[in-house]
Amino acid sequence: MKRIFVCLFSLVILGAVKAQDKPVINASMNKVKLNFMLDADGKAAYSVFYGDKPVINNSYLGIKLVDDNSFDKDFVLTGSEKSNVDESWQPVWGEVKNIRNHYEQVVVHLKQKTAPGRLMNIIFRVFDDGVGFRYEFPKQPGLKYFIVADELTEFSLTGDHKTFWIPGDYDSNEYQYTISPLSQVDASVLAKSATDIAVRFVPDKYGIQTPLMMKTSEGLYINIHEAALSNYTSMQLHVDTKTFKLTANLVPDAVGNKAYMLVPCSTPWRTIIVSDKAADILASKMILNLNEPSKIENTSWIKPMKFVGIWLEMQTGKSTWNYADRADTLGADGKLIPNGKHGGNTANVKRYIDFAANNGIQGVLVEGWNVGWEDWFGNWKENVFDFVTPYPDFDVEAITDYAASKGIKMIMHNETSGSATNYERQMDTAFRFMNKYGYTSVKTGYVGRIIPRGEHHDGPWMVAHYVRVAQKAAQYHVMLDAHEPVRPTGLQRTYPNWMACEAGRGNEYNLFSSGNNPGHETIMPFTRLMGGPMDYTPGIFNINGYSTVPGRQVHTTLVKQLALYVTMYSPLQMAADMPDSYEKHMDAFQFIKDVAVDWDDTKIIEAEPGEYITIARKEKGAANWYVGAVTNENGRNAVIPLDFLDKDKKYVATVYADGADADWKLNPGSYQITKFLVKAGTKLNIKLANGGGAAISIKPATTADDGLKFYK
Ligand code: NOJ
Ligand code: CA
Repeated sequence: MKRIFVCLFSLVILGAVKAQDKPVINASMNKVKLNFMLDADGKAAYSVFYGDKPVINNSYLGIKLVDDNSFDKDFVLTGSEKSNVDESWQPVWGEVKNIRNHYEQVVVHLKQKTAPGRLMNIIFRVFDDGVGFRYEFPKQPGLKYFIVADELTEFSLTGDHKTFWIPGDYDSNEYQYTISPLSQVDASVLAKSATDIAVRFVPDKYGIQTPLMMKTSEGLYINIHEAALSNYTSMQLHVDTKTFKLTANLVPDAVGNKAYMLVPCSTPWRTIIVSDKAADILASKMILNLNEPSKIENTSWIKPMKFVGIWLEMQTGKSTWNYADRADTLGADGKLIPNGKHGGNTANVKRYIDFAANNGIQGVLVEGWNVGWEDWFGNWKENVFDFVTPYPDFDVEAITDYAASKGIKMIMHNETSGSATNYERQMDTAFRFMNKYGYTSVKTGYVGRIIPRGEHHDGPWMVAHYVRVAQKAAQYHVMLDAHEPVRPTGLQRTYPNWMACEAGRGNEYNLFSSGNNPGHETIMPFTRLMGGPMDYTPGIFNINGYSTVPGRQVHTTLVKQLALYVTMYSPLQMAADMPDSYEKHMDAFQFIKDVAVDWDDTKIIEAEPGEYITIARKEKGAANWYVGAVTNENGRNAVIPLDFLDKDKKYVATVYADGADADWKLNPGSYQITKFLVKAGTKLNIKLANGGGAAISIKPATTADDGLKFYK
C-alpha cells in the first residue's frame, strides 16, 4: 500500500494531474503496465509504464460535447471489471498466417456526480507491446444523442523525444518526414513550403499526424495512433513543445463538429505501442487486434496480386490521362480533339496486358480511360467523371476480352477529383460496370478539395465515405485500393477487400517532384504503414532517366526498389515502371516476378527508424522466403542470419545486391546478382550502397542446383 502511494505521488509530480482521492486501477501484460485514476475534481487520468520506465505520465481523458463542456469532470468510479483474452485468428491475407490476440482488459465505469448522472466507460486493453483504450457511452437515461466538440485525451510524454513527424494536415498525408525533437515541431512552415502537394490545410502550427513514431533518450520506441476509425473523425495531435504533452486534435467537419453520436456507442481506440526494440514496433499486431473481425463472410474472391499499369507514363509526362487538351473546344465533328498523347488507348493497354501475361503479373491498371480528365483537377467541380464512359480510343469490350484471353485481371481506376458526393451517386453504376467488364479491383483517388465543400479528406464525413466505398465494393466483390484517403487504422481486418491505401507520400513523388529523401522508406513502416498496407508503387528501374529537371530522380538505387516489395507491405503491389524499362533489366525484374504478396510468416531482422530495415517473409503456402533490406543515405553492411530456414534443408539464395560502385545519386543503376546455396544458420553479409538496399529470394534447392557453392 505504501509503495503504491509513493508511486502515485511521483506520477503526480511528473504529470499535471492533481492529487488523487481515489485508488488506482491497474492492468499489466509482461512489461507494459497501465494505471487509471480519478483526480480530486473527478477527472479521469491514466499513465503507462514499460518495465520501470514511464512511457506516458499522468494524462487526462475526456470528451467535450457541443453546448456542454462539463463531460470531463465530476466522475465517480462505480465499478470496474478485469478480464483476460488469449486467442488466435487468421487474417484473409497478411504478413503472418496466425495472429495472437493476448491482452488484459479493464473496463472502468464512471458516473457524473452532477445531474443527469451521465455514464461513460473507458475500456483499456493492455498487450505486451502496448495499450489501447477507447471511450464507451452505454445506454443511459441522461444521454442519448450528442455531438463531440473535442476529445480531451492527452499523452503526456516524459521528455523531448526524437520524433518522426509530418504536419497535422486535414487534407493530406503526402509529406516527407521531419526528424526532430518534439520541442522543434513547427508544422506551418513545412506545410507552406510543400507546394508539390495538391491540397493542404494545416491550421495548427503545432499539429502533427499519427501514426507518430518517437524514440526516447533511454532507448524506448513509442508509437501513437488509433484503431478502428469509423463513425468518428480522425485524431491528430497537438504538441506542447515546452511540456511535451500531446493532446488529441480531432479533424472537424464543415461546421466545426467532430462526431455525431447516438448511445450506445464508442470512439475508435487510441493506441500506444511501446518497446525497447524498434523491430517489435514493426511486428506489432495490436492495431489489427483492436479492430473487429471480418464483416465479409465469403472472402474467397479476395486475392492479393501484383500489377502493372498505364500510370508512370502520365506521372512522367510521356503520355496524358486526358484524351484532348481542352473539353470546351470540339472538332468539326462535334467531338473532343485528340491530343495524340493519350496513354489509356486500346493498343497501349494490350501491350501492358501482354507484358503482364508474359511475366506472371496478374493485374493491369489503366488510368485516364474515362472521359473527364480534361478538367479534372483544381476546379472544385461537382460532376467531373461518370466512371462508365470510356474515351473513344479505349475499347472496353475488346480490352475485357483480350485480358480474359490472357488470364489478366483488369484494375479499374475511379479518380473522384475529391467530389465524394458525385462518387456516392455513381457508385452502384460504377461497380455494376466493373462487374460487367470483369474488373475485380478498383483504385480510387481523391485529388482535389473535397465535395461536400468544407469537408476535409481526414474529417468525419469522409471517414464514413471511405468505409461506405469499402462496403459497397464488398457487395460487388471488388477489392479496393484508395489513394488520398484518411490514413488507415487497421480496418482491413474488418473489410479485407480494402487491400491497400496510399494515404502517404508514395514513390510517385520521386517522379514528378523533388522526391522522397533516401531515408523515407526507413521511416514509412514505422509511421504510415502501422495502420495498414500502402500502395507505395515500388519497382521504378529507370532511376534517373525520366526527368529533364536537373537533379530530379528517384532517390534510391535500383536494388532498393526491389527490396521495397518486402519492406513496404501490401497485398496489392504494383510493378510501377513501364515494360520498356523492365525489358532492359529482365535479370533484376526476376525478383519482382518471383516475390510473393501474401505471407505465412514475417521476421523483422533488424530495424531502426530513419536508418535501416531488414525483413524476411515466408510466402503463403510455400517454402520460399523473400528478404528485403533498405538503408537511408548512408551505406551499411546488412547482417542477415538465416535462422528462420528449416533445419536439414538446402536452399538457393538469389541475392540482388547493389553493385560495388552503386550510390543512389552517383550510380543508382549498378547491381549484381549472385546465387548461393544456404541453410539454416547461414549468415549473409551484404553491402548496401548509400540510399541502397538488397533483395533476396530463398527457395528450396533442387538437383539442378547441385553445382552451386555454399555461401561463405
Ligand atoms: C494521385 C494518385 O496517387 C496517383 O497514383 C494517380 O495516378 C493520380 N492521383 C491520378 O488519379
Ligand atoms: Ca497521391
